[in-house]
Amino acid sequence: MDWGLENRLSRIIKPQDNRALMLAVDHGYFLGPTEKLENPKKVIGPLLKHCDSLMLTRGVQRSSVSATTETPMVLRVSGGSSIIGDDLSQEDITVSIEDAIRLNASALAMSIFVGSKYEYQTVVNLGKLVSEAAKYGLPVLAVTAVGKELGKDARYLSLACRMAAEQGAHIVKTYYCENFEKVVQSCPVPIIVAGGKKIPERDALQLTYNSIKAGAVGVDIGRNVWQSEHPVAMIKAVRAIVHGNSNVDKAFKLYQKLASEDSKNTQKSKGNKPNQNKNKPNKPNQNKNKPNKPNQNKNKPNQNKNKPNQNKNKPNQNKNKSNKPNQNKNKPNQNKNKPNQNKNKPNQNKNKPNQNKNKPNKPNQNKPNTPKPTPAKK
Ligand code: R5P
Repeated sequence: MDWGLENRLSRIIKPQDNRALMLAVDHGYFLGPTEKLENPKKVIGPLLKHCDSLMLTRGVQRSSVSATTETPMVLRVSGGSSIIGDDLSQEDITVSIEDAIRLNASALAMSIFVGSKYEYQTVVNLGKLVSEAAKYGLPVLAVTAVGKELGKDARYLSLACRMAAEQGAHIVKTYYCENFEKVVQSCPVPIIVAGGKKIPERDALQLTYNSIKAGAVGVDIGRNVWQSEHPVAMIKAVRAIVHGNSNVDKAFKLYQKLASEDSKNTQKSKGNKPNQNKNKPNKPNQNKNKPNKPNQNKNKPNQNKNKPNQNKNKPNQNKNKSNKPNQNKNKPNQNKNKPNQNKNKPNQNKNKPNQNKNKPNKPNQNKPNTPKPTPAKK
């Protein structure tokens, strides 16, 4: 591995324990102002020093992150579709390598949509990005995106992760699922787990713990940190699992302690703020004795008065549209009558002998060097 590539990777996956804590704030690239991430600068500021790396878009990096930070940036370079558009999977590469280098990115990130209409486009783009990035020693993180129609089970995620690795991705970000060990074992490069929708803090810590235990090198967590009432407390608790080998109970206790301190501090700062206007004498109304200004527009002719209303006879193009156009409203469900192509396919692996059956266990190359965290008390 080239020095530059190895160096950049070591900033993301820490060599001390082979683990990674990435904070995801790239959601706006297709969701716009996501709840509690409306002001990225405010959100990122207090969290930046607690994560190993930050995953974001170039717009947020330039506008909302101090250039003096030492935290490495994982730059999302794909996009193109929005949550209200026709198809979320229609993504392309939106950032040039030159701009990524200008932004001093430590890695590039893009999504692939395996099993979707734009599977081919996104997988080929990943291959191209890896080739281009390799020229500059830039690692690529592939995100296995999941859509409404795409599954989130071990069979699907193993397929998507393996495909990403085969295209040359250096790290794969995916979702946690049942039998996650299988996903990790069949992916030859390190896996990082996305947090997903906001869930109770303890559950998010459990997800982090389970992911690491199953062999993931870490998490790339977003909403479960910054949509928490206490984001700093939450990221510290996640960190305790990722880098401190804490179990879920210990990490959750830490969260509760830090959250309660945070609440007290907020209360205190609210209570201590003197009402700055309380003792101020009433300001005299400076306009009180001023003579009334004549209304300078009073006698001006209304220049629009006799102009024809140019829109008067234009059809109202939005007349029947609701605020959010449901572009799929009258579209036939294209899959509705499609036969399930897998339905009658024989399971090709069913009768295959298990080639690994008598092989000795290989050490998991992705497994952390440090001792495994002890299982959580149920
Ligand atoms: C999704 O594709 C985005 O890239 C997010 O970075 C990813 O989902 C992780 O964020 P969260 O933990 O909120 O799911």
